Parts: sequence; C-alpha cells; structure tokens
Amino acid sequence: MPVVSGSSGRDVAISLAPLMGMQYIELESRRFPDGEGYVRVPSDAIDAVRSEPVVLVSNTYPDSGIVNTVLLLEAIAEVRRGNLSNLKGEEPQNMEDVGSGVYLAIPYYGYSRQDKRFSKGEAVSARVIADILARGCDGIAILDLHEPAVLKDMEVPIEFVSSMPEIAELLQSEVSPDFVLSPDKGAISRATEVAGLIGCDFSYLEKTRIDAHTIEHTPKDLDVGGKVVAIVDDMISTGGTICRASDALRRQGATEVHAACTHGLFTGGAILRLANHVDGVHSTDSLPNPRAVVSAAPALARGLKRLMS
Ligand code: R5P
Repeated sequence: MPVVSGSSGRDVAISLAPLMGMQYIELESRRFPDGEGYVRVPSDAIDAVRSEPVVLVSNTYPDSGIVNTVLLLEAIAEVRRGNLSNLKGEEPQNMEDVGSGVYLAIPYYGYSRQDKRFSKGEAVSARVIADILARGCDGIAILDLHEPAVLKDMEVPIEFVSSMPEIAELLQSEVSPDFVLSPDKGAISRATEVAGLIGCDFSYLEKTRIDAHTIEHTPKDLDVGGKVVAIVDDMISTGGTICRASDALRRQGATEVHAACTHGLFTGGAILRLANHVDGVHSTDSLPNPRAVVSAAPALARGLKRLMS
C-alpha cells in the first residue's frame, strides 16, 4: 500500500508513509523544455499503485502544482483501471480494473483565499479547483484550509485537518508563550486551540485588508505587558499581517513576539521583513520553507485514517 507523490509534496509524503504504515513511492514528474508538466507511474510502481488504498500527496500551489496534481490523479486512475495501453507496446497493455481507493492529501491548498464571490463576475477559485480534483479521487484530506465552508457538499468526502496540536507542542517547548494572539477574526479558532493546549491567555485583533500588501488593525487594549506572545495564523504570505500585529503588541509592552503558522509562503522578502518585527517564525513543512520546524504529516495522517475507516 503506497503513499505516492510527484515532486510537490515529496517531503511530506516521505514523513507520512510510516505514520500510515505504508510504503513511499516517488512517481515520475518532470518538465518539458517549454515548462509543461509530464508525469508517469513508473513500471516498478504499477503493482503497488494497483493495491489499495493509494495516497497521493500533492500541493495545489503554485499553479503548476494544480496541473501536476490533476495529471498524477489521472495517471494513477488509468493504472488502477488497468488501462496500460501504450504506443511502445510495453506489456501488459491491459489488466483488471481494481476499482476505487485513491485518496488525495493536500498539505497546502493553493487558491484557498478566493473562497467567496466578493465582487460580481468572479470565479470562486477554491471551489473550482476542488471540483476538478474530486473527479479523480475518492476522498481528500486538506491541511488547515483557510475557509472550509467553501468546500461543503462536495462529491467526495473531505477531511479538514489541522497542525495546531503540533504547533502548540512546538511553541510550548521552544517559546513557552504567556499569551496567544490571533491577528484577525479568521484565525480565532486555530489560535484559541493553541492557547487552550498551552494553557495560556488569548485574544484577537480585528483586521481590515486595504490591498494585497497593506492591512490595518483596529486598536485594542491587550494585557501583554512583560509577556511572551505567540501570534498564530493559518498562513504567512507577505508577512504584513504579522508585522502589524507584532508592532501593536510591542507598543503595549510585550517583551518577546513569535509568529507561528501552518503555511509558510513567505513571498517577496517576507522572511527579512519578519526578522525586523518578531523574535522567531515557526512554520510547518506543508510548503518547503526556511522556517519549517513542524511536520505536516501527523495532521494529514489523522484525516486520511478517518477517510479510510
Ligand atoms: C488571511 O486572512 C490569512 O489568514 C492570513 O492572515 C493572510 O493571508 C496573511 O497574509 P500576509 O502575510 O500577506 O499579511
């Protein structure tokens, strides 16, 4: 029974396989000179991929990750259907259909932020991508999706899983926060969970996004004087949200400020920007990044086990 991946999601897949009691197999995934993707289930992986169940670990980020995931799901489905016909005449050309049993684990679900039609005429991208992926698998586990409500009533079961327990454990052992802050209302449930697991105080800020690079927080009195604070969010992109929240905390006397997130996108110099505002940045490895200190695999394993049971 294999956990497979192309190049995207490879490290998470390698960590996930032993947690699932499965074997890791790398599928072929490369690029043509013009940048288009190519995938293949290698000959020596055919038997394993036809055994049940198969878990594909793949990110839908960046855009090429979406194409790669769709192609990998189709390659796996064809192998499981027994459709091996090929122009080179490699044998066997056909085998028995082994049926369903393909699960997709998505460490970072790209396009998750367009989860509503904010203006008329927009595509709800989070839903569009999920509907395409659902056609190629029997269930999906998604790690810390920005807004799970966008994927309600899908054609396949979806398990929404969270790395907050592992993030809480890391923060407790490395940072010992006295206070956890959610930088906006959207992260309240995640940050509350972390505060509850650590057993420390919690509060949140109200954020208004002016544009992709600018946010504003409504001023709020926070009881953080002399305290070590951890700001917890689902993702850090430009770092703007964390930097502004950290400034508010420092103004109110916080002695140390750390940032923790599941998805470390760290776009456009975010790591440098954050270094000027916080004492530490802690992320999972849902995406490869220089602050990945928490494994995304345990949370995905929890969801996959529920999907398969
Ligand atoms: C938005 O609501 C998310 O939870 C994050 O707060 C946001 O995406 C972070 O973006 P940035 O790092 O660019 O401020």
